[in-house]
Amino acid sequence: MSHAPLGSVDGARGAVPPPQEFVARSRYADPGVYDEAEADWVGWWEHQAHALAWTRPWDEPLAWDPPFARWFVGGRLNASVSCLDRHVEAGHGGQVAYHWVGEPGDRRDLTYAELAKQVGRLANALRGLGVARGDRVAIYLPMVPELVVAMLACARIGAPHSVVYAGFGAQALADRLVDAEAKVLITADGAHRRGEVLPLKRVADVAMGAAESVRACLVVRRTNSDVRLMPGRDAWYDEVVGQASPTCEPEAMDAEDPLFLLYTSGTTGTPKGIVHRTGGYLTHVAATHRMVFDHDPDRDVFWCAVNFGWITGHSYGVYGPLANRATSVLAEGALDHPSPDRAWRIAELDGVTTLYTTPAIIRAFRAAGEDRPAAHDLSSLRLLGSVGEPIEPEVWRWYHEAVGGGRCPIVDTWWQAETGGMMLSPLPAITEAKPGSAMRPLPGIEASVVDDEGAAVERGQAGHLTVPRPWPGMLQTIWGDDERYRRTYWSRFGDEVYATGDRARVDDDGDLWLLGRDDEVLKVAGHRLSSAELEAAIVDHRAVAEAAVAGRADPLVGHAIVAFVRLRPGYDADPARVAQLREHVAARFGAIARPETIVVVDDLPKTRAGTIMRRLLEDLAEGRAPGDTSALDDPDLVAHLVEATAEATGRR
Ligand code: WT7
Repeated sequence: MSHAPLGSVDGARGAVPPPQEFVARSRYADPGVYDEAEADWVGWWEHQAHALAWTRPWDEPLAWDPPFARWFVGGRLNASVSCLDRHVEAGHGGQVAYHWVGEPGDRRDLTYAELAKQVGRLANALRGLGVARGDRVAIYLPMVPELVVAMLACARIGAPHSVVYAGFGAQALADRLVDAEAKVLITADGAHRRGEVLPLKRVADVAMGAAESVRACLVVRRTNSDVRLMPGRDAWYDEVVGQASPTCEPEAMDAEDPLFLLYTSGTTGTPKGIVHRTGGYLTHVAATHRMVFDHDPDRDVFWCAVNFGWITGHSYGVYGPLANRATSVLAEGALDHPSPDRAWRIAELDGVTTLYTTPAIIRAFRAAGEDRPAAHDLSSLRLLGSVGEPIEPEVWRWYHEAVGGGRCPIVDTWWQAETGGMMLSPLPAITEAKPGSAMRPLPGIEASVVDDEGAAVERGQAGHLTVPRPWPGMLQTIWGDDERYRRTYWSRFGDEVYATGDRARVDDDGDLWLLGRDDEVLKVAGHRLSSAELEAAIVDHRAVAEAAVAGRADPLVGHAIVAFVRLRPGYDADPARVAQLREHVAARFGAIARPETIVVVDDLPKTRAGTIMRRLLEDLAEGRAPGDTSALDDPDLVAHLVEATAEATGRR
């Protein structure tokens, strides 16, 4: 390891001031931005919105009818024009939009001009398939350029896209197709993943069998896998798109029109289709991408190293960077395969200046060898980012020293699929960042940590993280369910205060430290999974009568899943059964959901009111002594549960 001295760290408070060289080259180094934004926050967001290409100005910047907000009312724009056409028209058609790196090592550079043409072709092809403004298109693709093309082609014709993470299984895909009533599905024959090929089209076939709304399916050739094309429904992507014209008139969208849906896990078994709109969302992600990453399109190479099937990829892999004319890296497959050095090779080869990824990936890099980055020339790096879960101070410091050579500020950005864009984060040339803290609300954003009654907590105290006023990237609603939107986010503290579902502590300086979720949502490798959805996937197996899951804190993936299962009479709890159950969940829901441990129990711990005592399951999963169990209906169960858990986890 390059034992760079931690001399830049202020020992007393552990805060790391922005390095002078960074500040000198920064475009956003004026701390006055916070006061300026706060003095007229709506006007400040209007100012940010002017950075996009509008075909009609808005009449009103914000109409707030709690809990429904409308930003830039009356304005018209098309997201694909702000992301592509205007850059090409300004003479930047030859600039690389994406350096694409395939998992097997193939590479392709896509310029803005090429991207615009491909988007035009697919947009025309989709119109040819009968996709009209407002229709939903599902995208189930690996990290190939066509994923970005597909998103922007949908934006071009005003058809909200619903990207489904390619690691999800058939049931998860089917649930999302059905809920969105998707008309078209864009997928691939297969996906490369750690040297293996995931049979995407075969999974899609099963899912489409359960989703009547899908009337056409375009299949990108990626792995030369053997697939069956159903006549009248399926076609090869390249054949359809190859015949289409590259020029496609963009749909003039209202700022208020949905840009996309993205499904995320909630506290019930049904995933929520988070709806993001065009004007406000694009304003928020473009402004935060510019400021938080101190982005200069003529200097930087930006790498959002996460799978674009999640919100981070939408906002900071596609829409934010493209709106800012960024040159980005787009990498397919796992970052540590085939070699644990893959990420550093890419960063070196493409001259990456800004790396944005998750603590789970950073921990995996570190676990692969503390000093691995030192074997590469990473001098192009100037800024590092983290997102998705709290980053431990020692992981932060490793990232700072071993990857960033002690000279790159780190932005720990807190936000959610629902917020659309970043909400809390240091500004790299301004904030003295404390390792492990997401610090403060960004300019134009307000946040407050409150107690159970909704009153702001004192410094030094913890509580619920809330957002007490609208922001441009905020979700419009949950697809098809305004009531669930209201109940989930705007009822806990009244209909004017957004409840994030996270807990946070305010330190003595007023800086915020995220403490994790308030509800039954697990974070597995940065991905959000709800206990209810996982439980539904387990109970779906014929041998299972009842199931409840708990998370065990894991140093690598955040939460490891421990499932407590009661089998139906006549089924044995042998190792083969347990293995079968784990695979069942992986096939049904996706490999990320495969439980680490399955504990077969005689019964689940229930209170006299009949609800599962989740606190007890968490204690068991963590290997802690059970806390107060006096409310249990059957107190004798505890000894059996402890025993069964110890046996299943090999902890005796
Ligand atoms: C949840 C949202 C944000 C895009 C990726 C995840 C947790 C997110 C941080 C952070 C601590 C974080 C929260 C949040 N989270 N960023 N910097 N520090 N926790 O989006 O799937 O919607 O998950 O991720 O618990 O509520 P998501």
